[in-house]
Amino acid sequence: MTTTGIRGTFFDFVDDPWKHVGDEEASARFVSDGLLVVEDGIIIAFGPYAEIVNDFADIDITHIEHRIITPGFIDGHIHFPQTRVLGAFGEQLLPWLQKWVFPEEARYAERSYAKDGAVRFFDNLLASGTTTVQAFTSSAPVCTEELFEEASRRNMRVIAGLTGIDQNAPDYFVDTPENFYADSKTLIGKYHNVGRNLYAITPRFAFGASPELLEKCAELKREHPDAWVHTHISENPAEVRGVGAAHEGAEDYLAVYEKYGLVGPKFTGGHAVWLSNSEYRRLHEAEASVTFCPNSNLFLGSGMFRIGKATDPEQRVRMTFGTDMGGGNRFSMLSVLDGAYKVGMINNTLLDGSVDPSLKDSAEAERNKLSAYRAFWSITLGGAEGLYIDDRVGSFEVGKEADFVALDWTQGPPGADWHSSLIADGGDPVTVDDAANMLFGIMIVGDERAVDETWVFGERAYKKG
Ligand code: GUN
Ligand code: ZN
Repeated sequence: MTTTGIRGTFFDFVDDPWKHVGDEEASARFVSDGLLVVEDGIIIAFGPYAEIVNDFADIDITHIEHRIITPGFIDGHIHFPQTRVLGAFGEQLLPWLQKWVFPEEARYAERSYAKDGAVRFFDNLLASGTTTVQAFTSSAPVCTEELFEEASRRNMRVIAGLTGIDQNAPDYFVDTPENFYADSKTLIGKYHNVGRNLYAITPRFAFGASPELLEKCAELKREHPDAWVHTHISENPAEVRGVGAAHEGAEDYLAVYEKYGLVGPKFTGGHAVWLSNSEYRRLHEAEASVTFCPNSNLFLGSGMFRIGKATDPEQRVRMTFGTDMGGGNRFSMLSVLDGAYKVGMINNTLLDGSVDPSLKDSAEAERNKLSAYRAFWSITLGGAEGLYIDDRVGSFEVGKEADFVALDWTQGPPGADWHSSLIADGGDPVTVDDAANMLFGIMIVGDERAVDETWVFGERAYKKG
């Protein structure tokens, strides 16, 4: 048994800031000089240094100075085998998949290519402050194995699964429903709940899934009710039309997944850009989740996620934020927050009624504004709630796993000197609001350079060079 301490300035959440309009700091917890005590990866004490240090007289303490320490970032939707296809020019979703993505992902059937890709994938994540992902793999089991193997070596909490597709892709890439079912069963047996790995039954998207493949997903979910379900939903207009044609008789996109019993707690639909009111309401009633992937939605021209709609208190939908890397052009969740803020601002221009007064909805417009509280909640505790893993990660609550990131507010684009222009003379934050202002600066002006250290399960896994 090893017990260690980390001393520093901590910022996490105890509640959802969208429930505290006008009083968002009540959702946060700021400890300017705190101590986090970790035993074998698990938090066993947390609070002001002066109050608890005497209870732990004999432990080694690492003092992280002049940083804001937040829980590790959670990426709710990312594609492991797209690590080497970032920045592919010129196409929207469906032609982009055909031209760039399927050929690259097919290479992950080769073990050495997948293994090397997994090292790059996790190196990039840790350098971005991300400690947990929900990830797609490819249609080759080797790719899924290598993801879980590398995650296990690094002791990271991941949710992932073999990514099923049996139509609307080249012959070399599609799988059969029978193989998908058999391979998924094997992988669930080998990895689900082993170490920090969790398994998601992962039909790639309804456009690429025949009724037979979705029936196999339904069977897997019936046989493994505690497994996650991860897919895409309503991302791009051409895709949505394609789903209507491929699944005749389905009332809308969500209905395809509902028909097979997949929509409930632990279901995540990535993107959710073009959902109807009825789909939002049904996702709310099912206690299912969606992922907001602003960088991807902008890069692929998919559309604008309605964050104010998803956070409607009358029919709140659980939500994670995601890079969707390589649809999104960065690994960084800080960059996702930058994109998310801008999408919220544009949505408010669309809502402000200047063109169509019937769109005006001031309550939705208020919810569209991504304050630092809402932003950092969404990639920590909120992301954990969206994935139903908030009993394990997402905050510094005692009993949770000690994943966290130390942010340096002085680091960003060279020469910009943005930190001293915005905030408290560049000094350490004194109040919760100081810290929130610095975090807003980091997400809007800063970038991955602000990530100084990333810790996984109580151990330092990354230190900026
Ligand atoms: N829909 C089906 N596959 C994909 C993918 O790889 N990326 C994105 N953004 N959407 C998808
Ligand atoms: Zn995706």
